[in-house]
Order: sequence, then C-alpha cells, then structure tokens
Amino acid sequence: MKIFDFLKHKQQRKPITMVTAYDFSSARILSKSDIDCLLVGDSVAMVVHGFSTTLSATVDMMTIHIEAVRRGAPEMFVVGDMPFLSVRKGLEPAMCAVEALMRAGANCVKIEGCRGHEEVISHIIESGVPVMGHLGLTPQSFESLGAFKVQGRGDEANRILSEARELESRGCFALVLECVPNSLAATIQQELKIPVIGIGAGKNCDGQVLVYHDLLGLNLDFKPKFLRRYFEAESHFVEALKSFVTDVQDGSFPSEAESYHS
Ligand code: KIV
Repeated sequence: MKIFDFLKHKQQRKPITMVTAYDFSSARILSKSDIDCLLVGDSVAMVVHGFSTTLSATVDMMTIHIEAVRRGAPEMFVVGDMPFLSVRKGLEPAMCAVEALMRAGANCVKIEGCRGHEEVISHIIESGVPVMGHLGLTPQSFESLGAFKVQGRGDEANRILSEARELESRGCFALVLECVPNSLAATIQQELKIPVIGIGAGKNCDGQVLVYHDLLGLNLDFKPKFLRRYFEAESHFVEALKSFVTDVQDGSFPSEAESYHS
C-alpha cells in the first residue's frame, strides 16, 4: 500500500484494513497477512507497557517501536502515532517529533484532534509528511473526557463533523473515527473524499482498524461492544506454556532428538 492507494481504495469501494503493530515479531506476522497497513499506535503504552492510558506514550517510546516494526515489515505502509501533547508544544517541538517518527520508519503520522493545532497539521503536510487525522474518542484527552466512551451523540456530532471537514481541507489523507454512532460515521464517510477508517464506528466506513492484541485474544480484559475476536491466543499460549512445564517436569523434554551429541 502506498499513500495514493488510500484514496483509490475509497473510490473503488475496497475496504482498508489496518492493525496495530508494536514490535518486530508481530510486524513480521502481519506482513505475511493481507492487512493493508500497520499502525504503531500510542496504545502501545497500554497494551505493551501496561499503563492505564495512552498519556504515558512519549516520542522516544514511539520511535523505538516504529523502528522495530519497520524491521519486521520493511515493505508495509506504517502509520506512526504522534503521542500525548507532541503537537501542542509549539511548531518546532512538533516538527522534531514528526522528524523522529519519520526517521524511525513511519510513512506518515497520525494526530488526534483538530481544534487548536490546525496550523501545525498544515505545516506538517506542507513539509511533505502525510497526516492521518483521528476524531471521535481521542484517548489522549482521557482526563477531560472522563472515560473511554462513545463520542458524538447529540450536539457533539456537529463538532466532530466540522472537524472532519477541517482536517480534509487541511490536506489529511485519511481519518480514523473512533467510537462514534454509526449514523455520524456514515455522514462523515459520505461527505469526505478521503477514506474514513473506523474503530467502533460501525460498518459505514471505508475501512476498519483494530488492535492486534485485541483481535487475536491477547488482551482478554478488554471487551468493548465493537470488538470481534478472531483467535483465543491467550488460552492457547497458556496451554503451550503449561505443556512445556509438564514436559520438563516429567523428563520428556528435551528428547534425544532435541539434544546435541558428540
Ligand atoms: O493507538 C491506537 O491504537 C489507535 C487506534 C485505536 C486507532 O489510535
């Protein structure tokens, strides 16, 4: 997938699939699938590092994970998440953060929200770096939202719609829409020319994104309504690990065939 393919997918009504990747090993597995593109999301702070929100993600954390993903999936389109406050500290620090993510191997950056950093978004795009927008539930605003919950019900819908228009007019090449009612996602999908990639935004989007660990069943405590689990990895992993313990304890591992001989 290249940058211009995003628009083509929308025009040809070919849904885009995006999955998060945080390390070499998962990126390698993802590169063997038919997934269109990878997102090194700031959800890495929660899923991999065990923090309770994405506020703990930093530029350094993002670059380490982008580098690892790039090594695991050298040919794939990689989206790098701009972490908490990285676009809100002024133009120069924002551009340094963009530079770090792009040099680490991202093909574009994803930025949460719109109001108050429209000019920064324009500057990044004018600098030749594609920007994917992210509206609806924006987890970096967790403290002001009060919880991870559906956004865009009632009057909020108009604000999200106008921000989506603004992001498109600023030159964003795609938009992630997280946890909004179906009807709002449908309106935005129809109005915008750029593709809308949903998570918890229903089927009326131009694509869907899920977190790797969630869709494979590696994060069993997280079970929002929108999530479909395609594998029960955690229970299979636990079973395999228990078998290893049993085999070591009963002496059946290692066997002669698994041992070196002089
Ligand atoms: O960080 C992330 O994983 C994300 C997705 C939920 C879209 O932004």
